[in-house]
Amino acid sequence: MSTAPARLVTPRLPDPGRVAVVGRVAVVGDGRMGRAMAAALRAAGTQVEGPLGRGATAVGADVVLLAVPDAAIAAAAACIGAGPAVGHLSGATTLAPLAGHRAFSIHPLMTVTAAGAAFAGVPAAVAGQDAAMLAVARSVATAVGLEPFAVRDADRAAYHAAACIASNYLVTLEALAEGLAATAGVGRAALVPLVRATVENWAARGAPEALTGPIARGDEATVAAHRDAVVTRVPEAVGLFDALTTATRELAGRRHPQNRHPQNRHPQNRHPQNPSPQERGVEDMRIVRTVADLQAALAAQRHAGHRVGFVPTMGALHEGHLSLVRAAREGTDVVVLSIFVNPTQFNDPADLDAYPRTEETDVALAASAGADIVFAPAAEELYPHGFATTVTVTGPITETLEGARRGRGHFDGVATVVTRLLLAVAPDVAWFGAKDAQQVVVVRRVVADLGLPVRIEVGPTVREADGLALSSRNVRLSAEDRRRALALSRALRAVQATVDAGATAAGARAAGLAELAAEGIVPEYLELADPETLEPVDPADPVGRPALALVAAHVGPVRLIDNVYLEPRQTNDVTTTDHPTHTTPTAAHPGAS
Ligand code: PAJ
Repeated sequence: MSTAPARLVTPRLPDPGRVAVVGRVAVVGDGRMGRAMAAALRAAGTQVEGPLGRGATAVGADVVLLAVPDAAIAAAAACIGAGPAVGHLSGATTLAPLAGHRAFSIHPLMTVTAAGAAFAGVPAAVAGQDAAMLAVARSVATAVGLEPFAVRDADRAAYHAAACIASNYLVTLEALAEGLAATAGVGRAALVPLVRATVENWAARGAPEALTGPIARGDEATVAAHRDAVVTRVPEAVGLFDALTTATRELAGRRHPQNRHPQNRHPQNRHPQNPSPQERGVEDMRIVRTVADLQAALAAQRHAGHRVGFVPTMGALHEGHLSLVRAAREGTDVVVLSIFVNPTQFNDPADLDAYPRTEETDVALAASAGADIVFAPAAEELYPHGFATTVTVTGPITETLEGARRGRGHFDGVATVVTRLLLAVAPDVAWFGAKDAQQVVVVRRVVADLGLPVRIEVGPTVREADGLALSSRNVRLSAEDRRRALALSRALRAVQATVDAGATAAGARAAGLAELAAEGIVPEYLELADPETLEPVDPADPVGRPALALVAAHVGPVRLIDNVYLEPRQTNDVTTTDHPTHTTPTAAHPGAS
């Protein structure tokens, strides 16, 4: 094989600024790129053979360009005899498949459509096995009007990933936007000018200058509303949405804001009711990981006579959780929200693994709803080595319904962690959601039996407009299962209507089961029960009030629960709410949606 570089220039200049490649260039591969490259070289006055078929030997050529799919480069190169400089046109491929040849590559950073390619002024990554081959690559690229820049093989994956993010992934994002817009009855054409303007703005100004919108403004309430819409309408995209939110916050310089403005971080350093929740950002909130830090943070508050409110959660926050934070904000001076995916209450390890963990987003949402402290301990903090205590509530309230299906260990796990958390936070008031009605009964029992000095408040179940109760698990529902899951709230509405009509418990159940069956759902349970004791209403009896109607079912891979509280009848007034103890039932319930 000759080691002399290909001859590079010719005095023929068909186009000012372009220099034809001397000698014969063979283009192998007669797809779009091969045709476009051969045409462009010819137009530049270069002597071109091809585009030739893939197995071509290209005998007599000085330079061979392989315009073949990445996976076919090595085979195409193997057909070429010794002598010519051999280059490929791939972005992702190193020079390795050209081993044995004097190798180079050119990658025009542009999509080639069926209509061909306009190479003039288009940047192109070039590489060569040595300086001579790099010069060949530059020469061929320049001849067709490309603007070459060198990329080393070691940097190739990073370069090509950047190119794919800038182009392919952008299309993925636009498809997501299109899908979400469609759920609002908005067509893709409405998005096109915005997308163009955004790309132009980024091209002219770069990031983060081109960044506009709620995250750049620090408007977390709007971001939270967006997330709820994504959860409801395109649940399969919520992971992507969360990742983009986090990355955009970072770009806008709003990352880990709890670490900025240290003077604002400690609740004791500011008046607890100032600024207002609407004005507050994550800057005003503190994250603590240990019980000692939590208690230190709260000590000064208590000393100043401030009342502490507490909302325990397992994270992946949604409007249901945030409604409890807002209620706590209204009712107390300092609000602590805990995020702890409690392993001991999961009977199914797969469910524990799949449980969404979105701490950074949660922190921002908690702040926007008015939390002062997020307590996010590691498992070892709550259950250190040697931990051996379990809080067990016995009797029907833990043996029926969820207790029967998930095993008594579930409520042992809940009762133990809630006790542990209530003792660590020592709140004046703790808020729980009516969504987990049996959990509320269990927690009340623990607090009463152990004499824990805390008031338990219950917030109504928050639902989507179509009736689906919000749950952190909803993000795991496919679009089709999300639709089928509506059968749960429909079933509860049917039960309620049948009870209102004076039916027996058996009749009311049958009405609910029919709604579920229509979507092919066989529930784990659909029961009418006493709201205090959770003992089932006798099937043969008309359903008295108050009563709870509760349902649990798997929809696709996700286990969902829901319930509705049937309030005592009042004179000439038949109503339902989501829970007996909440004084202002504002959220929609199955009967209202
Ligand atoms: P998690 O499921 O995260 O729920 C935290 C609190 O939010 C619970 O009190 C729950 O009832 C409430 N909640 C959930 N969805 C709701 C909705 N759609 N509307 C209103 N409130 C809602 O429940 C737990 O965590 C855990 O068992 C916990 C108590 C934190 C113990 O580990």
